[in-house]
This record gives sequence, C-alpha cells and structure tokens, in this order.
Amino acid sequence: MNKREEILSRLEDKFASIGQDTDVHLEGLVWAKPITYWDYIQTDLLLNLQVQRTTLPDEMIFIMYHQVNELLFKMALWEANQLTAMPQTSAAVFAEKIGRMSRYFDVLSSSFTIMSQGMDYEQYLKFRNTLTPASGFQSAQYRMVEFASTDVELLADARFRSTINKDTPVEEAYEHLYWHAAGKDYTTGKKSTLIRLFEERYKETFLRQIAAYKGTNIWARYQAMPEGEKNDPALVAAMRHYDHTVNISWVMAHYHAAAAYLDRESKKEVEGTGGSDWKKYMHPRYQRRIFFPGLWSAQELADWGTNV
Ligand code: HEM
Repeated sequence: MNKREEILSRLEDKFASIGQDTDVHLEGLVWAKPITYWDYIQTDLLLNLQVQRTTLPDEMIFIMYHQVNELLFKMALWEANQLTAMPQTSAAVFAEKIGRMSRYFDVLSSSFTIMSQGMDYEQYLKFRNTLTPASGFQSAQYRMVEFASTDVELLADARFRSTINKDTPVEEAYEHLYWHAAGKDYTTGKKSTLIRLFEERYKETFLRQIAAYKGTNIWARYQAMPEGEKNDPALVAAMRHYDHTVNISWVMAHYHAAAAYLDRESKKEVEGTGGSDWKKYMHPRYQRRIFFPGLWSAQELADWGTNV
C-alpha cells in the first residue's frame, strides 16, 4: 500500500465508524475554501469586542488590557484543567504544565505597567466614573484559577481559616472565601452590590467547581503523587514559582497599578470602582493566599507578603 492508499484506507475506516460515505466527504473537499489567517484566528470577531463607554481614548487601553488578562487566564485554566483531569502523572509532565501556567502569569505581572504607567491619569479619573460598580474583582476566570489550584479551605479569609476544613460544607466554605472581605459585612451578612451582582451571575458555577476540584485540584493532585516524584527538585521549584507569581507578583503588580490611580496624592485617596477598602484588602500580607503551603518554610510563610 502506498502512502496515499494508506491515508484513503484510514479515511474509509474513520467515516465508516460514524456511518458516513467517504466519497461524499472527498467530493466536498473539491469545493472547500482554503483556510485563511483571519478565518482561523477569528480576527474580525476578536477586534470587534472592544467597546468604549466614553469618548476618552485611553479607556480603550483599559478595555484591551483587561481582555489580554482574560485570555491569559483562559490559557492558564486550559492547562490547569488538563492537570486536574489526570489522576496520575509524572513529575516532568506536572512541572511542564505548571511551568506553562507560570509563564502566563509572569507575562501579566511584568506587563502590568501598561496599566500603572500607560494611561492618562485625568482620563482614567473620568472614565472610571462610568464603570462603577463594576470591577476586575468580578473576573470569574481569576477565581476559577484559584479553585483549580488549591483546596478551598486555603482560600478562606485568614480570620476564619481555622474554622474551615475539608469537611466544611461547600456553601459554608464559599461564604468564607477571602474575597468576600472586599464587600461583605460579616456581622450582618450584608453584601455590596459588587459581590451581589457577581454572585447572581456566578455563584452556582463556583459552588459546582469547588465541589468538582475537591481532591482533584493541583495541590491535591501533587500531594497524592508518590514521594519520589513529589520531591523532584524541578517540580518543587516550578510549584513554588507558580504560587509566587500568582499570589505575590501578579497581586503586587496589580496593587501598584491601583495605587498609581487611586492613591496618587496621599491626601486624596480614591475608592476602587467596586467600593472596597482596597489598600488593606488587596495586599498579600493581609490576604495570605498561598496555594501550596507545604512547599514553603515556616519563615517563608511567616514573611508572606512582606518585603514586596
Ligand atoms: C488601573 C487599573 C486598575 C485599577 C485601578 C484596579 C483597581 C482594583 C481595585 C480597587 C480592586 C478591589 C475591588 C474594588 O474595590 O473594585 C480590584 C480588584 C481586582 N482587580 Fe483590578 N484594577 C485595575 C486593573 C485590573 C486588571 C487589568 C485586571 C485584570 C483582569 C484586574 C483584575 C482584578 C481582580 C482579579 C481583582 C480582585 C482581586 C482580589 O480579590 O484580591 N484589575 N482592582
């Protein structure tokens, strides 16, 4: 059998297995349009997704950079979901996937100056008024990266962490996630509009995801690996890098961008569009989000978010 006959035979097998006539499909190929870059990458669609609410040109930078973040969050989730679906894998494969996710967050951390330095301050102060009460806080993918990365109890508000454990019902653990501190009054249970709208749209999805990632998230998968694989130095280094780039580097790059606009003149501190006490809330020293606590020394844990 020559190469072409072999390909035809494989096509016959493929179409026979789904009850299709190979000849009809081959005839279709005669009339098929050649693929182009713009059809494949969907550039027309992609480049029409940037819709300003104001006439201020720098609002476009703000919209596009948020979209860049969402695309890279999607790339990270793409890897995370392959990893969490693999019951067993080698240290090399694990480290490769974690390395990819880290690269995406490294790009985001190092490019955040596009926000902190790349927009006109006066324009920002004007267009931000049209965005309240929306905030990047409402990025569902950002939360999904967290759910995929670690156990939900490690994402609990540090004040309540000792009360949340593996047996805590999903909804109760959810109500104690660290990010509720941006807009929930724990004494009355009242939530800000920022959080209320976010939950109306995503709470059900989040509850399902938290349940699905129990025992399958990246930290859980890592811990279930055989000792020999788990202690692989390259894997441990990759895991620590990922934890640091997501929970310190990105967080601090974002914090500096917020400070550049909201804390520009110390006397005139401006609220975030979502209305949080952002200076305290967003700092890693306060949130103490650590995906893989077992991979840091007691001193490193104690110093988390300081000297940054
Ligand atoms: C000049 C640009 C930016 C400023 C001034 C800013 C400001 C803020 C503030 C003040 C908060 C706290 C919630 C609130 O009160 O609104 C917040 C949260 C957040 N923002 Fe931004 N942000 C900026 C850019 C971005 C970008 C480009 C992204 C990418 C998607 C983003 C994603 C987030 C996320 C995920 C949170 C929640 C963080 C957490 O819960 O710890 N922000 N932002």
